[in-house]
Amino acid sequence: MSHSKPVKVLTPPDIRARKGKTPLVCLTAYTTPIAKLVDEHCDIVLVGDSVGMVMHGLASTLEVTMDMMVMHGKAVRRGLSKALMVVDMPFGSYEESPEQAFRNAAALMRETGCAAVKLEGGGAIAETIRYLTARAIPVMGHVGLTPQSVNTFGGYKVQGRGADADAVLADARAVAEAGAFSVVIEKVPDILARRITGAVDIPTIGIGASAQCDGQILVVDDMLGVFTDFHPKFVKRYAELGKMAEEAIAAYAEDVRSRRFPGPEHVFGDSPKALPSGTEG
Ligand code: KIV
Repeated sequence: MSHSKPVKVLTPPDIRARKGKTPLVCLTAYTTPIAKLVDEHCDIVLVGDSVGMVMHGLASTLEVTMDMMVMHGKAVRRGLSKALMVVDMPFGSYEESPEQAFRNAAALMRETGCAAVKLEGGGAIAETIRYLTARAIPVMGHVGLTPQSVNTFGGYKVQGRGADADAVLADARAVAEAGAFSVVIEKVPDILARRITGAVDIPTIGIGASAQCDGQILVVDDMLGVFTDFHPKFVKRYAELGKMAEEAIAAYAEDVRSRRFPGPEHVFGDSPKALPSGTEG
């Protein structure tokens, strides 16, 4: 019989209660192996719709579908044991009406086992957030640069500079008042992110925002340096996996061409005794 303590799974109320306390650590994940690594260290794991650009080579998140979110959500769920799992609602799955949003959010929760959904927008989407949260669907908001609105913004630009600051603040307030348990603030000036953090009573999760937010989130592939040709200012790289992978693949190609791979330790003998023990497959 095992006497190990059962693992406490973080819930939306746990995250909500962290307002103003130790910073919340959040990362995206899209696959089981990465979810396992991230779970160990993070409070929140987001299956972001960034999956479309990161894993499927899409030009924006606009082409991401419910089926893609369900498939990656299921994969991530298998890798988690303690972090709160949040799944992004893809473009077109929630904007039409609160009822449409409920149908799709409930499907994401039912099919992936996530405990909350994230949707983009402020005042314009507040009624939908209120509708969902009143019906057992915890919601994480997302204001500032909301990538699904890239075409209306005219690019992935910093939002809320100068006179535009008040509109982003109003969006964050609307999301909080509608019942969201936390809100992502993306790509806004540091001073505005601090203002929002002081103005709302739910945790703010910054990305390209401020160290004074209640938590931080990054796209996991960005902070691991998977892409050698993409390095936004707001990403700190903690590894150079893309460069390491390039070097490893080049070394493999060289080994194959020069017949250095496979070596004697990678091939099978005619009799099991012909190879060191443990190497027979
Ligand atoms: O889709 C995503 O990964 C996100 C985070 C960057 C916040 O929305």
